[in-house]
Amino acid sequence: MKHVGMTQRCNYSPILTIVVFSTLFFGFFLYSEYRKRIPLPDFKHQKPFQESSNTSNVEIQETDKEHNDGKAKVETKGGTEEKFQGSNDSNLITAEEKKDDGDNKRIVFPQEGCDIFRGEWVFDNGTHPLYKEEECEFLTEMVTCQKNGRPDSLYQKWRWQPRDCSLPKFDAKLLLGKLRGKRLMFVGDSIHFNQMLSLVCMVQSVIPPKKKSFSYASYATVFKMEEYNATMEFYWAPFLVESNVDPPTRRDGTVDPVIKLESISKHGDNWKNVDYLIFNTYIWWRYPTMKVLRGSFDDGVTDYVEIDQGIAYERVLRSWGNWLEENVDSNQTSVFFSSLAPSHMKSSAWNNTSGIKCSNETTPILNISRSLYVGTNRLLFTIAVNVSRSLEVPVHFLDITTLSEYRKDAHTSIYAAPGGKLLTQKQKSDPATYADCVHWCLPGLPDTWNELLYTLIISQT
Ligand SMILES: *[C@@H]1O[C@H](CO)[C@@H](O)[C@H](O)[C@H]1NC(C)=O
Ligand SMILES: *[C@@H]1O[C@H](CO)[C@@H](O)[C@H](O)[C@H]1NC(C)=O
Ligand SMILES: *[C@@H]1O[C@H](CO)[C@@H](O)[C@H](O)[C@H]1NC(C)=O
Ligand SMILES: *[C@@H]1O[C@H](CO)[C@@H](O)[C@H](O)[C@H]1NC(C)=O
Ligand SMILES: *[C@@H]1O[C@H](CO)[C@@H](O)[C@H](O)[C@H]1NC(C)=O
Ligand SMILES: *[C@@H]1O[C@H](CO)[C@@H](O)[C@H](O)[C@H]1NC(C)=O
Ligand SMILES: *[C@@H]1O[C@H](CO)[C@@H](O)[C@H](O)[C@H]1NC(C)=O
Ligand SMILES: *[C@@H]1O[C@H](CO)[C@@H](O)[C@H](O)[C@H]1NC(C)=O
Ligand SMILES: *[C@@H]1O[C@H](CO)[C@@H](O)[C@H](O)[C@H]1NC(C)=O
Ligand SMILES: *[C@@H]1O[C@H](CO)[C@@H](O)[C@H](O)[C@H]1NC(C)=O
Repeated sequence: MKHVGMTQRCNYSPILTIVVFSTLFFGFFLYSEYRKRIPLPDFKHQKPFQESSNTSNVEIQETDKEHNDGKAKVETKGGTEEKFQGSNDSNLITAEEKKDDGDNKRIVFPQEGCDIFRGEWVFDNGTHPLYKEEECEFLTEMVTCQKNGRPDSLYQKWRWQPRDCSLPKFDAKLLLGKLRGKRLMFVGDSIHFNQMLSLVCMVQSVIPPKKKSFSYASYATVFKMEEYNATMEFYWAPFLVESNVDPPTRRDGTVDPVIKLESISKHGDNWKNVDYLIFNTYIWWRYPTMKVLRGSFDDGVTDYVEIDQGIAYERVLRSWGNWLEENVDSNQTSVFFSSLAPSHMKSSAWNNTSGIKCSNETTPILNISRSLYVGTNRLLFTIAVNVSRSLEVPVHFLDITTLSEYRKDAHTSIYAAPGGKLLTQKQKSDPATYADCVHWCLPGLPDTWNELLYTLIISQT
């Protein structure tokens, strides 16, 4: 498990996929479900903000206020370039776009000023799922919940309906037309890998069999679309800055993460000249403090200090912001930041007293209550909003947090495959230990994240 596919690039092979991807995924779990399988050191510090502290509540209210006035959603600098912010003109903006095959077709964009991240889930089995689990060969066992025995499939059939407008219908060819000759890259942790797989499945059916391929290296996973001379990529950097859990052999959750606050260029060199960069960082962060390296990983230094999580998070995002400002030409590159993806560890958050984490949940939380609190660290959320907003380089803030909080039904739960192996019957009967309430089944919720990303990408002129 330690050295498979680390350095060589190779064509897609199902076995390799399972091994490599499960290696990736396996290491990403810092949560309680795997604590009995992986001897995680000092586990209580890995619990990500489940027990809310009093400061967190203050931040939640602050964020809710932002939700209410519809600000802090999509951040674009430069006044007139603002999208989906400001007044809500009820006229839909339409456009004629040329499809690859020469057809003219009408696309309906959401009107300017519409906050596409605010709305509700609507059951819509006519339009969703956008693809079938068994038809996307690139899905790994980690996310194929149906194949892995999940009895219900309603979780695939929900559509996100913004309150004040509608999302454009997803059109794979239109997106690929936009991406022609370009690179799109997700940078971050396994949640972003989850999302990359989703996007690949959303487009792959329109590309002929021999014209697409997957390849792996220790940090980069690349989906190549030959006809379009385009790629969709995933780059592993769970803290964005350098950390001791970056190397493939250190991703199994047994290592206590240590980060280097200002050290980003080593990873960043791999993000240059990418046309669409989508970043995230959240699930690896330890609460309440992070270990911060004094010195260099290269020198084998192991001396660290413990720094308050929020302070460290802000400093890391500042390093990221500096990197963007030094290296990104915003005329060429569009930058996105995906907000925190929530987990669902405590069923009391949605008043299910008989529930065990997210297991057996088959419907979203539908009665949307402003006080919904599933354990998301809203302080980190606000820091990310603030830093994204403060940069010279425009950053589109993908606020997937709240809409995902309703989706207690969409996790892989006991139908995951940690370490490349499905759970045994005995393990399945112990969801308190084994249910994965962090990652998501595909098709499923990450498809919606990509519909939102798609909306922003095609709305750019
Ligand atoms: C908030 O947390 C601090 C430190 O954990 C504690 O000293 C204080 O009493 C708490 N305040 C309230 C209102 O719970
Ligand atoms: C936005 O639209 C709603 C419903 O159509 C309307 O009630 C409201 O006044 C509009 N707001 C603005 C700022 O135009
Ligand atoms: C969609 O759901 C409705 C109600 O559950 C059902 O009657 C209908 O057959 C479903 N349609 C499809 C295409 O699955
Ligand atoms: C393919 O795309 C790359 C950028 O990703 C570009 O540098 C190159 O010129 C393109 N090749 C062709 C044949 O269009
Ligand atoms: C980006 O484009 C604008 C307008 O076309 C131009 O004024 C500006 O100099 C360009 N910036 C860079 C870094 O090329
Ligand atoms: C759970 O119950 C409390 C108290 O009745 C209520 O305030 C809250 O809105 C409920 N939460 C959900 C998600 O239904
Ligand atoms: C509550 O949890 C139980 C056990 O996990 C599950 O079977 C049930 O469907 C849940 N109820 C609701 C209303 O979500
Ligand atoms: C979850 O569902 C399974 C199968 O439907 C059932 O055997 C089990 O008792 C349920 N668990 C809980 C906690 O309700
Ligand atoms: C949602 O809330 C309304 C009233 O607040 C209630 O009548 C309805 O039963 C609730 N629905 C669900 C699915 O809990
Ligand atoms: C975010 O910015 C707002 C407005 O500038 C400020 O009031 C707030 O304290 C900031 N929050 C954090 C966590 O940085």
